[in-house]
Amino acid sequence: MAPAGHVDGVVNVPGDKSISHRALILGALARGRTYIGNASPAADVLATAACLRACGVWVRDFPPARYALDGNGVGRFSAPDTVLDCANSGTTMRLLAGVLAGNDFEAILDGDESLRRRPMLRVGDPLRAMGADVEASPDGTPPLRVHGRQVLNGVTWRSPVASAQVKSAILLAALSGDGPTTVIEPLPTRDHTERMLRMCGVGVDSDGPVVTVHPGPVEPFGLRVPGDLSSAAFFLALAASRPGWRVRCPGVGLNPGRTGILTVLEAMDAQVLVDEGAPAGGVEPMGDVEVRGTRLHGITIAGELTVRCIDELPIIAVLASQADGDTEIRDAGELRNKESDRIAMLETGLRLLGVTCESTADSVTVHGPVRLRAAHLDAAGDHRFAMAWAIAAALVPAGAGASVIDGADAAAVSYPGFFPDLAALIAS
Ligand code: S3P
Repeated sequence: MAPAGHVDGVVNVPGDKSISHRALILGALARGRTYIGNASPAADVLATAACLRACGVWVRDFPPARYALDGNGVGRFSAPDTVLDCANSGTTMRLLAGVLAGNDFEAILDGDESLRRRPMLRVGDPLRAMGADVEASPDGTPPLRVHGRQVLNGVTWRSPVASAQVKSAILLAALSGDGPTTVIEPLPTRDHTERMLRMCGVGVDSDGPVVTVHPGPVEPFGLRVPGDLSSAAFFLALAASRPGWRVRCPGVGLNPGRTGILTVLEAMDAQVLVDEGAPAGGVEPMGDVEVRGTRLHGITIAGELTVRCIDELPIIAVLASQADGDTEIRDAGELRNKESDRIAMLETGLRLLGVTCESTADSVTVHGPVRLRAAHLDAAGDHRFAMAWAIAAALVPAGAGASVIDGADAAAVSYPGFFPDLAALIAS
């Protein structure tokens, strides 16, 4: 990866990964035909589609981004005759565990080396309270064996972690409940599942961190998925880093649970222009986003804001190295449970780039501004680092050399076209 000279352009990022997973899953739970457009091409989303097919759902893909599905209704999956391979995708494993809890057969969910290190009792515990039989490895990691029941107990579950995957697993299982189910989170997380359940005619009440689902049938739908703001974040951060640089990403999702990156860029002093359009499917906010770079300053990110930009924290930490003063990212212990230990990854990688930073169990502090030096970096199988390190490499001053990123192909987990799109932006 070579340094960027000047950045000014438009990037059309692919469809949102979180919404695409949910569109496929809800289409599979609906009775009748669902159409999905602009679906994410992420390897994670392909894993969800493959698992649904293995459970007897007719899923037809029309590459690059369209799907048609015929769902059979809630509780009407067929027993898979193979292990369900969730690959690198925590969303696939946790959301499908919730769906399988409402089906009376045994299924085994497994994944790659990274997913096999991630905590699953956070979904196993509530699903067991609802009446499903769920078993993980002794240390609470995959593989996950789920033997569900046609009718589950409606429960009130106080989740110890702010996790949309955990909340969604419970809300999907709640469709098979004998009464309403309520989830209470420590802080509110992205609410795609709630919005999309409403789009499908399901009764959902929500008030901040408290959400209740009333069991009922799921109606089929047509949805054009908004662009993925988490993918756009890499280009928007690049634009923010230098006065005079600019990037526009049209048609991206603006779910308030995801727009923390825009709040952060603005707080750091970047110019953020948002032109909101009609919501996708009538429920998911979306619009065009443009970011213009300025002299940035360090900020503190904590609490609800940390949750609202949880996936963007690696690229935010890279950007913080270009800001005047310190940036402190707090309340971020969940970063240690992602596709890699993202706090440890940041410390190692940022130091190789010449950045001074330190961490605690749940925080990272980055001291800026730094003239980055070219480095030999490792994505370590984590897609967000394949892309965050690429942006860091682009921020190394011209003439200071090219960086090498081992395992950069991990970007395909969420954004297979990232490197061509970055190259086109830098060349434009
Ligand atoms: C996601 C929720 C978040 C996020 C992940 C996608 C989702 O995970 O980090 O990339 O689609 O629900 P957690 O629920 O573990 O916080």
